[in-house]
Amino acid sequence: MSNMHRLGNKCTPALCRVPLLQCLAAAAAMAAAAVLHCASQRAVGPVGPDGRQLTWSEMSFQQRRAHMKSAVIPAAAPIFRAWRPQRFATIGCALCHGDAERTGDFRMPTDHLPRLSGEVLLGHERANFPETTQLKLDRLVPAVAGALGMDGFNIITRRGFGCYSCHLGPRGPMFGH
Ligand code: HEC
Ligand code: HEC
Repeated sequence: MSNMHRLGNKCTPALCRVPLLQCLAAAAAMAAAAVLHCASQRAVGPVGPDGRQLTWSEMSFQQRRAHMKSAVIPAAAPIFRAWRPQRFATIGCALCHGDAERTGDFRMPTDHLPRLSGEVLLGHERANFPETTQLKLDRLVPAVAGALGMDGFNIITRRGFGCYSCHLGPRGPMFGH
C-alpha cells in the first residue's frame, strides 16, 4: 500500500521500465485500490457505542431515518425549491420514497421515481430532460452525497453516489446500488 502511494495513480514511464507484465499488474492493483478507496464513507452520523461517529452504512434504520430528516432534507429542499418554487415549496420523504411511510420500505433506488436509460454518459437524459439533468449533476448529487458522507459517482470506477442511487435503470438497479 505505502509503495502504491509513492507511485501515485499513474503507471509512470519509470515504472514501465520494469517488465510489462509487472507494470500491468501494478496498474491493476492500483485500480483495485482506487475502487476500494472510492467505496469509503465519511462519518456523518451520531456517535456509536465505541465513541466514534458512524458512517451511513453503520447507522441503524432509526438512525438513518433521523439523518434523512436532519441532513438529507435540508440539503435537498433548497435545491428543488430554487428550481421550481411553487411545485417544491415544501418537500417531504414522499418526494423520493413515495408511500414508504405507509409500507415501511425506504429502500433506494425506487420504482416511485421514473426509470432512467442506463447510459453512463446520460445521453438520453441530457437530450430529453436537460434542465433536471444539469441541476442534479451540478447541485443535487453533490449535496446529497455530501450529506450521506459518500463520494459522487465516478465515471471510471462506476461507483459512488449518483443518479442511480435514487433512480432504477431499465432492468433494475445499476452501478452497485
Ligand atoms: C431527496 C431525496 C430523499 C428524500 C427527500 C428523503 N430520502 Fe431517504 N433516502 C434517499 C436516498 C438516496 C437513500 C439511499 C442512500 C443510499 O444508501 O445510497 C435513502 C435512504 C433512506 C433510508 C434507508 C433505507 C434502508 O433500507 O436502509 C431511510 C430509512 C430513509 N431514507 C428515510 C427517509 C425519511 C424518513 C425521509 C423524510 C424525513 C427521507 N428518507 C427523505 C433519498 C431521500
Ligand atoms: C436524491 C435523489 C435523486 C437523485 C440522486 C437524482 N434524482 Fe432524478 N428525480 C428525483 C426526484 C425526487 C424526481 C421527481 C421530482 C418530481 O416530482 O418532478 C426525479 C425526477 C427525474 C426525472 C424526470 C423528470 C421529469 O420531468 O419527468 C429525470 C429525467 C431525472 N430525475 C434524471 C436524473 C438524473 C439524470 C440524475 C443524475 C444526474 C438524477 N435524476 C439524480 C430524485 C433524484
